[in-house]
Amino acid sequence: MSKVPVIAVDGPGGSGKGTVCKRIADTLHYHILDSGAIYRVLAYAALQSGTDLADSASLEKLALSLDLSFVPADDGVLTVLSGKDISSQIRTEETGAAASKVAAVPAVRKALLERQRMFRAAPGLVADGRDMGTVVFPDAEVKIFLDASCEERARRRVRQLEARGKPADYEKILAEIAERDHRDRTRAVAPLKPADDALVIDSTGMSIDEEVEKVLSLAREKGLCS
Ligand code: C5P
Repeated sequence: MSKVPVIAVDGPGGSGKGTVCKRIADTLHYHILDSGAIYRVLAYAALQSGTDLADSASLEKLALSLDLSFVPADDGVLTVLSGKDISSQIRTEETGAAASKVAAVPAVRKALLERQRMFRAAPGLVADGRDMGTVVFPDAEVKIFLDASCEERARRRVRQLEARGKPADYEKILAEIAERDHRDRTRAVAPLKPADDALVIDSTGMSIDEEVEKVLSLAREKGLCS
């Protein structure tokens, strides 16, 4: 195979993409791109600097100048911005909602394109996002679109928060998920949708093991692993 293989996994938040991607990357010893984290970092930097989330030119400038790195650590990967670990700060609902706003700005998506493509390195890449198979890696060997109903994703989020001892209001979370989905699916540039050649998996009622197996079996079919 001449080019570095990519497994593109797209889908809405809460579909289990993150966990599935991590498992696939560990199994195949591939690199991983968490593209959502990049949009979250930009949103965090914009909020911190008081940048207007609708100011395209300022956001583009900020996106091009982000001093961002992902640093492997014992319990996962740290997100480091200008030398500061902001891993937990980018996971708040506020940053997630702001990420979805800055991600709808065409100049931002363009500014972040090359940064994402640079993650493509041997022996291979698992790319987690919304437009991995449609825009960032249209030549990916494997394209998956992992979906699940809004209700199922809200229930998962509630369980996640409760497991961390945090308060979780199902109705509020459901409304936030529905709003973010709507913005991601209807934006003009790189809207959240399956690539024409993607395998769509509805993960509602499926276990993570089953999801991982489905992706791996497609990777096997494409000759990426045995
Ligand atoms: O996946 P995650 O929830 O971390 O992504 C945060 C937001 O970033 C999403 O709601 C989406 O608006 C945006 N995003 C995107 N394209 C990607 C990844 C994330 O627009 N490839």
